[in-house]
Amino acid sequence: MKNNNIITIDGPSASGKGSLAKALAKELDFILLDSGLLYRAYSYCFEQSQNHVKAKNLFLNLQINSIDHQMYVFESSKDITSILRDENIAKSASILSGLKETRDNLISFQRDLASDRGLVADGRDMGTVVFPDAGTKIFLVADAEVRAKRRFLELQNAGQGVNMRDLIDDIRLRDEADKAREISPLMPANDSIEVNSSNLTPQEVLEIVLKIYKENTKED
Ligand code: C5P
Repeated sequence: MKNNNIITIDGPSASGKGSLAKALAKELDFILLDSGLLYRAYSYCFEQSQNHVKAKNLFLNLQINSIDHQMYVFESSKDITSILRDENIAKSASILSGLKETRDNLISFQRDLASDRGLVADGRDMGTVVFPDAGTKIFLVADAEVRAKRRFLELQNAGQGVNMRDLIDDIRLRDEADKAREISPLMPANDSIEVNSSNLTPQEVLEIVLKIYKENTKED
């Protein structure tokens, strides 16, 4: 039985998942699950403990809040969301996300966010593993150069100095690792719809996905 209260958006880094998920959550007044941010937060905790049991406890002590359709992470009331967006955290998240312990420690937290309120879940395995019953599943892709350029602008706007060539290499390596890992690899669910955002504005992507969602929910 499909759950029309859940929309999943999976795809490689910087394909536009984050902006799309945020815009959809706002439009439909759904909660946003930014699962990449959870993997980043877990890595932040693991760096402090070097141990999965302790990392899970540290993670559960963080405050993870949805404010204005965005996810924020607080540690002892301090907003650490922008610290978690750092490329170094992304690298360790990418390594740790290949481990069963990490994924097991995060799965129930993610599933618990589903409710009648509605959920837009953004990640790599949202449609395949975490919410296989989601009513609408999108696999968002974009050309590698477009993605690197987007991520470059994002990091530059956040005040982080980055080198474009290093960024292209990092994104490629992380995508390859996400696709090749044994547990929850990055891949489209059988019942997902692929959308290529390379030549589309964020508004055009939003409109396409809203149309798909409305068609799916009309069948009820
Ligand atoms: O999406 P974001 O770049 O914030 O994700 C950080 C890392 O977390 C990714 O490179 C990926 O390895 C991992 N991740 C994952 N499964 C998810 C979301 C993110 O493995 N559902």
